[in-house]
Amino acid sequence: MGFGRKTTVASERTPEAPPEVLPEAAPAPAPEPAAEAKTAPAPAATPPSRAAGAGDGATFHRNFMLVRDRLFELMDVSAAVSAGREAVHKEVLQTVGEIASRERLRMTAAEQERTCTLILNDMFGLGPIEPLLDDASISDILINGPGQIYVERGGKLQCTDIAFRDNDHLVNVAQRIAASVGRRVDEMSPLCDARLADGSRVNIVLPPLAIDGASISIRKFAKNKVGFQRMVEGGSVSPAMARVLEIASRCRLNIVISGGTGSGKTTLLNALSQMIDAGERIVTIEDAAELQLQQPHVVRLETRPPSIEGGGEITQRDLVKNALRMRPDRIILGETRGAEAFDVLQAMNTGHDGSMTTLHANSPRDALARLENMVLSGNPNLPQRAIRGQIVSAVNLVIQVSRLRDGSRRILNLTEVVGMEGDVIITQDLFKFEYDAGEFTADVRGRFVSGHVRPVFYDRANYFGVGQELMALLTGPGT
Ligand SMILES: Nc1ncnc2c1ncn2[C@@H]1O[C@H](COP(=O)(O)OP(=O)(O)O)[C@@H](O)[C@H]1O
Ligand SMILES: [Mg+2]
Repeated sequence: MGFGRKTTVASERTPEAPPEVLPEAAPAPAPEPAAEAKTAPAPAATPPSRAAGAGDGATFHRNFMLVRDRLFELMDVSAAVSAGREAVHKEVLQTVGEIASRERLRMTAAEQERTCTLILNDMFGLGPIEPLLDDASISDILINGPGQIYVERGGKLQCTDIAFRDNDHLVNVAQRIAASVGRRVDEMSPLCDARLADGSRVNIVLPPLAIDGASISIRKFAKNKVGFQRMVEGGSVSPAMARVLEIASRCRLNIVISGGTGSGKTTLLNALSQMIDAGERIVTIEDAAELQLQQPHVVRLETRPPSIEGGGEITQRDLVKNALRMRPDRIILGETRGAEAFDVLQAMNTGHDGSMTTLHANSPRDALARLENMVLSGNPNLPQRAIRGQIVSAVNLVIQVSRLRDGSRRILNLTEVVGMEGDVIITQDLFKFEYDAGEFTADVRGRFVSGHVRPVFYDRANYFGVGQELMALLTGPGT
């Protein structure tokens, strides 16, 4: 189920309405002067043809609000909404024209078309944030109450001048998002995870939990995937490291990707999964499907939150256990967050090598400790040493990713799990990123260096016929 937005919005938007000046952003009917100034369309964006005759942004906004109110009085909105956007488009446009002439509003055809699009965005789409969703340069949209919307572009957060009319407007959009995936979000259940029709992930928190008005966080679905090629070009990883990662995936190493929120874990997991052979059967498990595997033989599973009555929940742990009975060659778990860590390690240890997951940690060592704690949380009676033993035999490689202070994403460590000495897990860095010790600069400077060690998986690489290449990459020039 979706909102029909992707199919209609782009084509309906008139060219003279650049996203950032859509008067959707306009304030409530009786706005404060500051809000008016903040959200009124910038004069520069008004096309010359209209600037001459049809008036400025404020006039458009007044007309728009009037037409919108009349239209909602005239139309059976709930019937229209169930009919669908395509079906009512013509009717809305026609009604806008009728209202405009009856009220003697001076609106050009283009303005009427634009009014129609905005009304349809309100009825079917996500209102003022529609243009942000269509903007490919934006990766995150963060709504903190009706008046404050941030976006992330190129790794940096920026505040926009877009706003919802009021909190009711915002809550309405939040509820529409939840309803589209068969969930409900209201005062009784004010937290909700959902997904848009285009694959973007959404988290919703309603008041009173969100103190300053509803909060919506959207991680947009990246249409242009960042593959190894782009990571190398963008300086996220050195060419040698990228190739070692390709080899690691080919050699069926069990890989844990560690990093903070938005550091690029899922992106890297996607890139690694591209290396998997087309003949393998892959089962993916996620809370909200984000992975984009290209292989033909993939079974995608998604968890289910409990229903309003509290029943019917299917956890990641349930799905991992179930996946083991599906004869997978590899299991890919989008993010390990809790007790399912135990089952993931078991999967890795029982012939599903080549499995991968991500988790939230700040260093490879931290990642291993987190894994241990997560196993412990679901199995409090397991001795620590046994858990560590399992981790060591399951996990081959930990990749640490990070979003640095200049907004860039880097792979900071490519760390191999070597074994145990006593109770301690021994690791070695195949590669790491070394910061320049010199002066503080706006962009983060440094270089990737090889640890000049012989990987434990060298023998396995030999078995796959890439042992020599692997050693050359680790000891070659420029490392
Ligand atoms: N190496 C990279 N270079 C450029 N952009 C990246 C890179 N890795 C991730 N991104 C972008 O950063 C955003 C967050 O990435 P994601 O993988 O979803 O993070 P995480 O899973 O760690 O929360 C996405 O929009 C993604 O396209
Ligand atoms: Mg992620």
